[in-house]
Amino acid sequence: HPLKHLNTFRIDVRAKHYLRVTSVDDLRAALADAQLAAMPRLVLGGGSNLLLTRDFPGLVLHIALEGREILAGTATHHHVRAAAGETWHDFVQWTLAQGVGGLENLSLIPGTVGAAPIQNIGAYGAETKDYFLSLSAFDPATGEVRVMDGAACRFAYRDSVFKHEGRELIILDVSFALPRAWQPNLRYAELANAVAEQGIAAPTPQQVADTVIAIRRRKLPDPAQIGNAGSFFKNPVVSAEQCAALLEQFPTLVHHRQPDGSEKLAAGWLIDQCGWKGRSMGAAGVYPKQALVLVNNGGASGAEVQALAAAIQADVCARYGVMLEPEPVFI
Ligand code: EPU
Repeated sequence: HPLKHLNTFRIDVRAKHYLRVTSVDDLRAALADAQLAAMPRLVLGGGSNLLLTRDFPGLVLHIALEGREILAGTATHHHVRAAAGETWHDFVQWTLAQGVGGLENLSLIPGTVGAAPIQNIGAYGAETKDYFLSLSAFDPATGEVRVMDGAACRFAYRDSVFKHEGRELIILDVSFALPRAWQPNLRYAELANAVAEQGIAAPTPQQVADTVIAIRRRKLPDPAQIGNAGSFFKNPVVSAEQCAALLEQFPTLVHHRQPDGSEKLAAGWLIDQCGWKGRSMGAAGVYPKQALVLVNNGGASGAEVQALAAAIQADVCARYGVMLEPEPVFI
């Protein structure tokens, strides 16, 4: 089965077996088949956070579970739930149309609802974990569905239990708790400035969403036009000492102090300073407007993207002594 249109990098590889999953019974049926159950599995949502490096010799489970609802909630919070296969951005826009604000800073992030908790998607001062209530996940080892709260998901920056011991779990739906007393989250300076520039004193959730969408459209490539998986590297976190030493040598280094005293560096800045912005290696390139995003300029293989990523890592490490960690999962 061709995977080219199931991954936003548009890498042209194939899977041995493919199954479109529209119910938990589809999963149970597939795993009841001894041959299918024994194969390596790849759970696919929007395919926007992975780099396929070769044909997949196993079973691709394409999660197409649908449905979204506003739950009863509490006196203080709206509760909303969506099935894993729903498109994240459409879900966010739908909550806003229902008069439920809270997820607007996460507008236009590619991918599905089910993928959001896996890497704890975040942007413009908000992360999934801030609004997360619970999720249900199918455990192939037991055939049972379990409900997990935020603590069980062990969220961290672009990370969760689903990238570690929980790798085998298949997320079915996700619920969010959004305060009824909505306040705009304008902690991210670029967003606050963009709202202020429009002369808006007290923005609505939809106005914040529209502003985030405009910022993202300005600097990030649309996967429908140019293959990519968003930020290709995580922003590296270094100790206060290492940051201070780097600042002596590179006074314009972009850094943000973390609650624990460590410092998060801007990977985009490091890559840009190494001269990689807009450069290409074969059909893989660095997006000219945002050095953190690697793109497929047409017909790139996963290996070409990997080679470009490795060259960037080597340069950044040689100059700054910092090893960049990829954000997408390599398959
Ligand atoms: N910068 C450069 N050159 C570049 C890119 C960035 O100098 O080519 C500098 C910018 O000037 C800025 C700093 O680096 O001072 C940070 O850049 P930006 O605000 O654009 O954010 P980012 O660190 O590049 C992160 C997330 C994005 C998220 C934005 C907004 C990561 C790995 N990336 O990007 O997430 O949208 O902040 O919150 O944390 C994603 O994960 O796929 C993603 C797009």
